[in-house]
Amino acid sequence: MTVPPVVAPVLSPAELSQVSDAQLDQYARLIYERTGIRVSPQKKTLLSNRVRRRLRETGIDGFDGYLKHLKKLPPKDPEWDAFLQEITTHETFLFRDEGQWAWFRQEYLPECLDAAQKDKRKKQLRFWSAACSTGDEAYTMACCVSACLLPHPGWNVRILGTDIGIGAVEQASDPVFSERAMRLVPKDYYRFFNKAKDASLWQPKPNLQKLVSFRHHNLLDPIRELPFDLVVLKNVLIYFDAESKKRVLANVCSALRPGGLLISGAAEGVASMLQGFQRLQPWLHRRLPE
Ligand SMILES: C[S@@+](CC[C@H](N)C(=O)[O-])C[C@H]1O[C@@H](n2cnc3c(N)ncnc32)[C@H](O)[C@@H]1O
Repeated sequence: MTVPPVVAPVLSPAELSQVSDAQLDQYARLIYERTGIRVSPQKKTLLSNRVRRRLRETGIDGFDGYLKHLKKLPPKDPEWDAFLQEITTHETFLFRDEGQWAWFRQEYLPECLDAAQKDKRKKQLRFWSAACSTGDEAYTMACCVSACLLPHPGWNVRILGTDIGIGAVEQASDPVFSERAMRLVPKDYYRFFNKAKDASLWQPKPNLQKLVSFRHHNLLDPIRELPFDLVVLKNVLIYFDAESKKRVLANVCSALRPGGLLISGAAEGVASMLQGFQRLQPWLHRRLPE
């Protein structure tokens, strides 16, 4: 009996190779210019794998050809977004960093309520989840606001979520959350969600959805909807070098009203880069009045 020869799949040279150092440099420069994200030389294999996936999807042959293609695309082009999806992490979940949200719902919102009842502040709040990915942070805020403030009459609260990923923002606008994304939601807050058609998923109720809106925004650019009472900027500065961190923080800080609060990751080292802020916690800073 003759054994048929094993036929190896035909791979194009592009699929077999890695980006060269010069190509890595050019990709890194383009990514940095457009997003502020720093791609280190250690990411050569990762970047090669991710670009190779886009070569397969688009049918473009070769790393140079794809780079040329990317350079011509406007920031909101679906292919640019697909490429960004490949090189960024969208990991997020509701009530991530529980301690911060315990402070938000047990201290911050009750203090706002108390101040409004004593006529010391308006019953109006504006929050921004900057780099919101699929919106989990914004819906976390919406749950807390629904539980703590909205039972009291007259409150007007708006929560904006923004991200550079168009796919992420679209998902945030039409949200469903997995059991995994819901794992830290306090049990009595499940009343703000319905089971989705797929019973393993949860959907925020319309009243929760009314509080939030989402749009594409690059943190390297100033934001037009301001001022905010509180901004959450977490798990994104880690991608930036000092220069782009500075630019992002300048944009975010000037979007806060005097007295407004910035929530960051505890280990993201923003304290040394903030001027005119009071440190309340390693992860919480208040913008001082001018
Ligand atoms: C790991 S997620 C963080 C999500 C959420 N803030 C959290 O902590 O759970 C990082 C997000 O940053 C976004 N991002 C990266 N660079 C950005 C930029 N220049 N402007 C806006 N968003 C950016 C990515 O698209 C991604 O969704």
